[in-house]
Amino acid sequence: MVNDDLRGEIISRLEDLPTLPFVMEKLLHIVGKGDYSMAEVADIISKDQAISAKVLRVANSAYYGFPRQILDVKQAVVLLGANEVCNIALSVSVFDFFHARHPLPIDAVAFWRYNLGVAVGSVVIGKKVGFTPVRVLYLSGLLHDVGKAVLNFFLPEHYIKVVEACSCGEKEVEVERRVLGVDHCEVGGIVGEMWNFPRHIVSAMRYHCDPAGARDDAELVSIVHVAECIVYALGIGEKTAFVVDIEEFAWQTLSKSVSDFRNIGDEINREFLDAVSVFSDVMS
Ligand SMILES: [Fe+2]
Repeated sequence: MVNDDLRGEIISRLEDLPTLPFVMEKLLHIVGKGDYSMAEVADIISKDQAISAKVLRVANSAYYGFPRQILDVKQAVVLLGANEVCNIALSVSVFDFFHARHPLPIDAVAFWRYNLGVAVGSVVIGKKVGFTPVRVLYLSGLLHDVGKAVLNFFLPEHYIKVVEACSCGEKEVEVERRVLGVDHCEVGGIVGEMWNFPRHIVSAMRYHCDPAGARDDAELVSIVHVAECIVYALGIGEKTAFVVDIEEFAWQTLSKSVSDFRNIGDEINREFLDAVSVFSDVMS
């Protein structure tokens, strides 16, 4: 039975969510436009000292292995590319935005490790199936569960009920609908539109548990969905009893392009460990 009262209260509370920090808003805006210059990315990031410092720490990490220290964001953009720096800045700013809130009921670090896993997993799968442009997959994966982040960090008194009600074997979205009357995918779709996220990211947020509903973005959403299932199976990030099965539609959509998914788990795990080493300094 759906909890209509709670559903109404949660949806009305979404209107009171804070606006996005400047860097997040501007970077997501240019990502949505589809084309952006190195100067645009550097200018936006440079306006926030805390984010700039974190971007530089990441750019100077052993993972990128530049022989000389990168001293400013412009230099980082030239050496790493606008897309890479944009992804780094959004990763740290999204983490900061949510992590600054109530840390309960789910573990913020584990949650963002999981989202990082889905981001890199989406890119690995996207390359395998020849999806273009691959660059949109990282952020779609990273942000697909913002609905859950909103419930957890802004409405923890509601989300704790889901965590408490979790019983082995029941799907996460079904627990949410039963307990709250709304699931994190629907919440994600609402806040994604409210915050003017690019359309493909909103699709990933709204349909990643039901890729068939995504219509024009069905392939992208199927990629994120399969990445999510593999990341759960690998035990990356959140330790949960929730079950996530790959939807037949997503499997059919992706297997048209590639039939060989052997070793995909190993590949995603390797990429995830690299990503963790890049971000470990700034996400803790
Ligand atoms: Fe999800």
